[in-house]
Order: sequence, then structure tokens, then C-alpha cells
Amino acid sequence: MSTVVVIGAQWGDEGKGKVTDFLAEKADVVVRYMGGNNAGHTVVVGDHEYKLHLIPSGILYPDKMCVIGSGVVIDPAVFLSEVESLEKRGISTKNLWISQRAHVIFPYHQKLDQMEEERKGNNKIGTTCRGIGPAYTDKSARVGIRVIDLLDGEQFPVLLNANINSKNRIFTEVYDGTALDYKEILDAYSTYAEAMKKYVCDTSLLVNDAVEQGKNILFEGAQGTMLDLDHGTYPFVTSSHPTAGAACFSAGVGPTRIDRVIGVAKAYTTRVGEGPFPTELNDDIGSLIRKQGGEYGTTTGRPRRCGWFDGVVGRYAVRINGLDYLALTKLDVLSGLEQIKICTGYNYQGEVMNEFPASLKILSECVPVYESFPGWDEDITGIRKLADLPEQARLFLDRVSEICGVPIALIGVGSRRSQTILTKEDLY
Ligand code: IMP
Repeated sequence: MSTVVVIGAQWGDEGKGKVTDFLAEKADVVVRYMGGNNAGHTVVVGDHEYKLHLIPSGILYPDKMCVIGSGVVIDPAVFLSEVESLEKRGISTKNLWISQRAHVIFPYHQKLDQMEEERKGNNKIGTTCRGIGPAYTDKSARVGIRVIDLLDGEQFPVLLNANINSKNRIFTEVYDGTALDYKEILDAYSTYAEAMKKYVCDTSLLVNDAVEQGKNILFEGAQGTMLDLDHGTYPFVTSSHPTAGAACFSAGVGPTRIDRVIGVAKAYTTRVGEGPFPTELNDDIGSLIRKQGGEYGTTTGRPRRCGWFDGVVGRYAVRINGLDYLALTKLDVLSGLEQIKICTGYNYQGEVMNEFPASLKILSECVPVYESFPGWDEDITGIRKLADLPEQARLFLDRVSEICGVPIALIGVGSRRSQTILTKEDLY
């Protein structure tokens, strides 16, 4: 048996959906452990494309237990619409479980998210406006409503009423906006509760039982290391913990139960929303990567900012997450470029800096130090063995691995499950 955590090693959108879907094949249990419907996974199986925001991509295999852990914030409308669309396409959700302790997103969270972004104007974070930050804020402030509370017909109206009263005061007195209707939200959420209750349980028990039984468990992170509330480019981060350690507290398993951590990174870098991005390319190459990589957000449709692979970020992700391996996705997107670059350090006031700085002021003055590599013209999307890749591509991969300090276990050369090169046979 083995337990594997998969995390994003950059700013999210690294292709975790494809990697977790690939690894899910050998998993018995797949646990989604952070974020909410700010995330989006596109998984291609055969000729079908599935876009999932909350439900783990393991659901596409009929026999896997899929768990949404307590660290996830759940928008019930989104959850139920994903369930409905999967069921409509013949995919069963009978093995899907939600933690009783997960917090629920309400319309006032979305409204607060939007109003705060508007208020910040040019200093906005560029959130997905899905209410994620305000939902986690309520959780920390100990006024949030958990799934177990939503299912409690006596408690829920009381908790909702208290929340709506305080949020409506903010809307009307601070923002000069309109109040939300308590009854309307109570009715809608009571209906959601009815539909959700069959999925709800103590998921920590389920996951620990599976550990005891020696099953393969895959913990699927959301977003990426550089969006982590503690370790990312604060304040331009999400309000949760995309890093590996969070798998434990969200799933309710101890750190001694984790065997392996795999970080997913693209062969280049992307970022959506505002905030620093040292290797960003505001030129034709950046546009070309966006076009070839289809770099538009799964959740918001926003064009992603594109740039070269950043080895400083890669090394940082290895350290913060204790990565054993990297999975490098979208190598095929770089095909056809005359020259490919990797950032190996940052030049800050004439000195080379090898570690990612905490200060955004210092970061804004950092100039990437690049190593350049010749590109390749071949179409690599049909290649399944490392040795068959063009020599230039292998050189590039070797250097990425060397700079980050971990081996590359998996290379993505296209969006399909099969378009994968494995350099290590068994990742469990
Ligand atoms: P929030 O999570 O909606 O509060 O957004 C905070 C920051 O995280 C913004 O820069 C978003 O663009 C970014 N973000 C949130 N979810 C994702 C994701 O799944 N992929 C990439 N960026 C994300």
C-alpha cells in the first residue's frame, strides 16, 4: 500500500487533473483536500472532456472511492450540478463522500468576494469571485457553517440567520449595497441539504480505515504552492493551503501516514490573476505559448499569463512540499520554439539570489537569470518513451530536474491519459 500526495508546484493550473487522473488508475481512494470551485480540472478520457471543479477526477473510474475533505469549501449548487452532469453522462457517484466538517459557501461569500475586489480597484487580487476567501475567513473567525450544520434542520436556520444579519449590515452600512434575503437562501440551501445528505460522512474515518487496510490513497491538491496562504506570493494568494502538508489536516490523517509527494509543474509557467511573476513573457513568445497551450482558465475563462520555467520556484516547491518527484506537463507545447529558457536564479541588485524571497518589493526588483536551450521542431505528442524524445527535449528535462533537485517521474506530451511518458514505473 502507499499514500501519495499530488500538489501544484507553481501558481496552479499545472495539469494536476491529468496527473491525478493518471495516478487514480492505481488508487483505491482519491481525496480532494483543499480549495473549492475556484479550481478547475479538465480531464480528457477517450473522446470525452470533463471539467470538474469540486469532485475529484477519480470519479471517472467506476470503482474508486472519492472523498472531499474537511479543508475544502463547498458551494452546494456547484457540487450538485457536477453530480448531475456526471450522472447524466453515465458516471456513478455512489462512491463519493463529503466531509461533515467541510465549510459551506453561501451567496454572501460570493458577494463579499466581488465587493472586496471592486473596492481594491487597481490593487485587486484577481480572485475567481467564487466566495472562497470570505468562506475561509468565516471558518477562521469561527462563524462559518459546516456541512454537518447545514444538515441540521434546527441549527441551520439559527446559524444562517446570524450570518445573514451580520453580512447584511456590512453590505448596507459599509458598502452601500443591498441586503440579501434570508428566506430565499434558507429555502435554497435546505433543498441542497436534502440532496447532499447521502454523500456526507466522517471522511477521516473512511480514509484512515483505507490506510489500515493497506489501500492506495491519492491526495489531490488544488491550486499551487505559490498561491499558498503561508508560502505563496502573499497577499496575491488563495485563502487556503495548496501545499502538501494540508493533505493531512484536511483528510484527517497523520503525517506519518504519507509515503510520497509528487509536484506537478508545466514545462513553462502560467499564472492567472494579479501578483508577481518573475519569468512572465509579455511578448510574442508568451502569446504563442498561451495559444499553443490553450492557456485560458477552466473556471473563469481568463487568459493565463505565460512565461518560462522558473527553477527558483521549482526548488522552493521541492523544499516546501518535500517533493520526491516532479511530474512535468505540457512539454509538447514548447515544440517549435527556436530557443527555450529556464530561470536558474534571480539577479537582485547585482547579486544572484537562489531562494524565493518573501518580500514582494524585493521580488519586483528581481531579474531572472536564464539558461538558454535549443528548441526542437518534432511533434512529440505520439512519443511514449523518454529515449524517443528529441535530444534537445531530453537536455531540457535533465536540466529542469537538476535545478529543482528531484527526478522527473512523469512527462506529459498531450492532454489525453495515454499521452504520458513514465520514467518511473510505479509511483505508489
Ligand atoms: P481565489 O482563490 O478565488 O480567492 O483567488 C485568489 C488567487 O488564486 C487569484 O490569483 C486566482 O486567480 C488564483 N486561483 C484560485 N484558484 C486557482 C486555480 O485553480 N488555478 C490558478 N489560479 C487560481
